[in-house]
Amino acid sequence: MNMFDKYTSNYDMNDPDINYKYYHSYRVMEIMEKLAITLNLSPKDIELAKVIGLLHDIGRFEQDKLYDSFKDGKFDHGDYGEKLLKETNFLKHFDILEEDYEVVYKAVKNHNKYGIENTQNERELFFSKLIKDADKLDILYVLGSDKFDMLEKDNKDDISKEIKDAFINNKLGNIKEIKTQNDKLIIPFTYIYDINFKESLKIIDKNKYYDKIYEKINNKDIFKEYIEYTNKYIAERID
Ligand SMILES: [Fe+2]
Repeated sequence: MNMFDKYTSNYDMNDPDINYKYYHSYRVMEIMEKLAITLNLSPKDIELAKVIGLLHDIGRFEQDKLYDSFKDGKFDHGDYGEKLLKETNFLKHFDILEEDYEVVYKAVKNHNKYGIENTQNERELFFSKLIKDADKLDILYVLGSDKFDMLEKDNKDDISKEIKDAFINNKLGNIKEIKTQNDKLIIPFTYIYDINFKESLKIIDKNKYYDKIYEKINNKDIFKEYIEYTNKYIAERID
């Protein structure tokens, strides 16, 4: 049994949140591997990417146990994850070089932050960008998938000015500015502006994640211009 499975076996897999995060971790690991291969990384770095994928949300399990919630106000699961990995010397159970431990710590810490602010180191930056993309790719997959019911229900609410402005200005929407139900739904549409690698956009395009999300939306008239712009933006960037 790997150390991730061993660690998470202390949590209740019958809890839907815990169960979801467990499988999300493995899916993100697979996405990291796929991206790493596409980007022609060395076998050593492909392994590093996979470990970061598997462990990026390691802080979520304790968060859910303590707060029964994934709201990051009281508990920053990226910061907690970094601390946990360091304090338990967790990484010694994985097939990566000790000199790369800091790369994992920074990627885990950065993955849930708005932007990347905790490093200037090129390798740390690269893997922080990679995990941010992989995490978003899985969220988009889940939101558009029929197997999951994670997409918030839309309604007739207006989209708030701050969120609309972010979208228009090609910026990632800040979850702190969510005011209406429909604001929540626009945030994933702004992910495209925070995607770091063209290869990630190609995966979004190939899998038609946004079209699948749009399919699940009831008030299509409110979201039509957003989906159209999103698809146009992706097409231009991967061209
Ligand atoms: Fe996370």
